[in-house]
Amino acid sequence: MALKILSVVGARPNFIKIAPICEAIKEINSLGCAEQIHHVLVHTGQHYDSNMSDSFFNDLELPRPDLCLGVGSASHSVQTARIMERFESVVLNERPNLVLVVGDVNSTAACALVAKKTSCRPDHSATDFIPKLAHVEAGLRSFDRTMPEEINRIVTDSISDYLFTTEESANQNLSREGIPEDRIFFVGNVMIDTLLRHRSKAQESTILQDLQLVDGREVKPYAILTLHRPANVDDKRVFCHMLDSFLDISRRIPVIFPAHPRTLKRIQDEDLGDYFVDYFVQGPEPWDSRVRIRLVPPLGYLDFLNLMSEARIVLTDSGGIQEETTILGIPCITLRDRTERPVTLEHGTNVLVGSDPEKILREFDRVYLNEQRPNRSPHYWDGNAAKRIIKVLVD
Ligand code: UD1
Ligand code: UDP
Repeated sequence: MALKILSVVGARPNFIKIAPICEAIKEINSLGCAEQIHHVLVHTGQHYDSNMSDSFFNDLELPRPDLCLGVGSASHSVQTARIMERFESVVLNERPNLVLVVGDVNSTAACALVAKKTSCRPDHSATDFIPKLAHVEAGLRSFDRTMPEEINRIVTDSISDYLFTTEESANQNLSREGIPEDRIFFVGNVMIDTLLRHRSKAQESTILQDLQLVDGREVKPYAILTLHRPANVDDKRVFCHMLDSFLDISRRIPVIFPAHPRTLKRIQDEDLGDYFVDYFVQGPEPWDSRVRIRLVPPLGYLDFLNLMSEARIVLTDSGGIQEETTILGIPCITLRDRTERPVTLEHGTNVLVGSDPEKILREFDRVYLNEQRPNRSPHYWDGNAAKRIIKVLVD
């Protein structure tokens, strides 16, 4: 009898996290064991632009989703409700043994709720049952409930049957919240599985040449910026203060800014174009007058990984990028006051500065003047997390 797993993706970081899980399932099935896994991949459509979704399926050679729910953008409640409504029919039709969700986006929490609220009858069974729920990247806590992701994490973890964790702080958070120990599995980090697997392929990317960041065989020093948290971009005053500090930095080294669609929309709505040069439309500014932030569209995974690997410094409010820079050993200035991934501060190159321009510039100076901290790989961030997850589920 096949074990039927229904996995959910919806937003950019989900595609990166699910890739090694798809691989691990394929590998188990290729062994020809009696118990095969029937894997159904569902894309909610939370992210839908080709550079926020399709390009990741191509770069990571992900299987095409079996089902696309096409929910699109909306307020949090409407988006969550739409996902729930459409995903319920999927669970009823597919009748999985297990629903697997990753990360902390709205699609994660919405599908987790549906999984635990829907009785279905698996093949060959006479009785209804509620599918098991697995959460990959469980237990992370920023302790900031104004973050939509923190609510998604708490809701998902509180109803999951299998909680797969990436770092020791997550194990402690879950224990403190009363989750029984036998549900918690410390397996490592699937995002790092993907990074390690694609690192050499990413070196074939031409993004450094495309952005004129190489001089002969030498890579010029540059910084990468990513910014999309509502707390940083939705308030014009906060956003502009931060942009002033990035502009200051861009007078010293080029700042490459692959802007998230939420952020692009803010730039357009608030008429903030003067801070930027739109790199692929206007072309590069002369090297000696690099006085603006270089705006580029969201990049594909391999391009972005290549760009990150060669950067002098990364400035970001992303969750996943804090983890990736930890493994790459690239200094990371996190534009937030808290992190749900404290291991990146303890083992990695990550430092929290929040949104205060003075702090951003001070930290930039410290790192730029080469006061680099040594980095160590956190436990189990070794490329095998997905295999551990699938082993637990099969066992
Ligand atoms: C979401 C996640 C966030 C994650 C981020 C990854 C939640 C609550 N937030 O934030 O945790 O870090 O994804 O990138 O789930 N848009 C487009 N095209 C797209 C997708 C979005 O134009 O393909 C625009 C829309 O105007 C939309 C806005 O971006 O309203 C925000 O999208 P949404 O998915 O609601 O949240 P993110 O900010 O992307
Ligand atoms: N990323 C990418 N292209 C970009 C920016 C980010 O491929 O232009 C990747 C990045 O390497 C990481 C993931 O997207 O793997 C992080 O996603 P994001 O910052 O959107 O979400 P978060 O991790 O904050 O939830």
